[in-house]
Amino acid sequence: MSASWESLANDHILGIAPYEPGKPIEELERELGISDVIKLASNENPLAPSDRVMKAMQAALTHVNRYPDGSGYYLRKAIARRHGLTSDHVILGNGSNDLIELMVRAFLRPGEEAVIPHPSFVVYPMIVQAVGGIRVVVTLKDQRLDLEAMARAITPMTKMVFIANPNNPTATIVTADEVEHFMARVPDKVIVVFDEAYVEFAQGPDFPDSLAYLKQGRKVASLRTFSKAASLAGLRVGYGVADPDCISLLNRIRQPFNVNSVAQAAALAALEDDSHVVECLRMIEAGRAFLSDEFTGMKLKFAPSRANFILVDVGRSASEVFHWLLKEGVIVRPMTSFGMESALRVTIGTPEENRRFVKALKKVLAGAKSA
Ligand SMILES: Cc1ncc(COP(=O)(O)O)c(C=O)c1O
Repeated sequence: MSASWESLANDHILGIAPYEPGKPIEELERELGISDVIKLASNENPLAPSDRVMKAMQAALTHVNRYPDGSGYYLRKAIARRHGLTSDHVILGNGSNDLIELMVRAFLRPGEEAVIPHPSFVVYPMIVQAVGGIRVVVTLKDQRLDLEAMARAITPMTKMVFIANPNNPTATIVTADEVEHFMARVPDKVIVVFDEAYVEFAQGPDFPDSLAYLKQGRKVASLRTFSKAASLAGLRVGYGVADPDCISLLNRIRQPFNVNSVAQAAALAALEDDSHVVECLRMIEAGRAFLSDEFTGMKLKFAPSRANFILVDVGRSASEVFHWLLKEGVIVRPMTSFGMESALRVTIGTPEENRRFVKALKKVLAGAKSA
């Protein structure tokens, strides 16, 4: 009998649950026999990239016969300038997912611990497990990262701590004061990874400046992305900011052409186009207020959002509500796999999409009550 593929696999990966991507919208529309499905499931930006970014992408397309600039020279320089740093503090990634993976692969040795909040971004435990690291999972408190408990979870075996700020799926933040208190308790040899994929949506005087810790010489890395506020999720481009010695180690294991040339051109143009982000933030803030009011009116509990999505408790099986909403042509994300049986995560869309979602939710919940 021939050996199974599983028996040949790296032991660390056998316990990892496979990621289940959703169906393409077109396929869903075909199955449901409808044509105007809206997707509020992946925390994407409903706005298309700006004209300026479109033009930059078109210009870059002419040169796709060539490999991209493997150093990301211009984009790194522009990012560094924006943060008042030098290019050697910056690394580009194929989305910020790529950078999470590089951080873990570069620093977490088999048997070392990574402190991970739960529920939070699913990629942290997956990558930690893939390299044979130990996941030390700390449950959220009142839908927010419990930094006190996370600090207590640090042991001599801890190498890394993940702080998703704002956190996905709760959309809540930890404040500057809380982070300051936490950082005072983190030993020098523990790396704190600030995952700030939604940072643009969270800005306010209470939001921590994670780069200040880098400037103080602390062992931190801040990860950001062009997938959310910049509307470039499909291109896959993010970046990390850290000490040049850290960046240089990450570069040793980075695929040389991890960020394609169209993505680099688009991200560079997006960085020079603040008006798109401003427009998007205005829309998200209005959508957040609209949905919050509607949830309050419907007596549904929700976590106060500082991101472009909201976690709402629909008071009954989220996976049932998800399926009923699907029939209404609205895709959201049930949080059942996180052990949150009655929670849905809904991405804030355009005003029209938000209204459609609310209308469908009201219909579905009314139907559920009378059933
Ligand atoms: C908390 C968090 N971090 C990182 C990412 C990764 O984003 P990307 O790889 O598109 O940059 C996401 C994506 O949804 C996220 O929710």
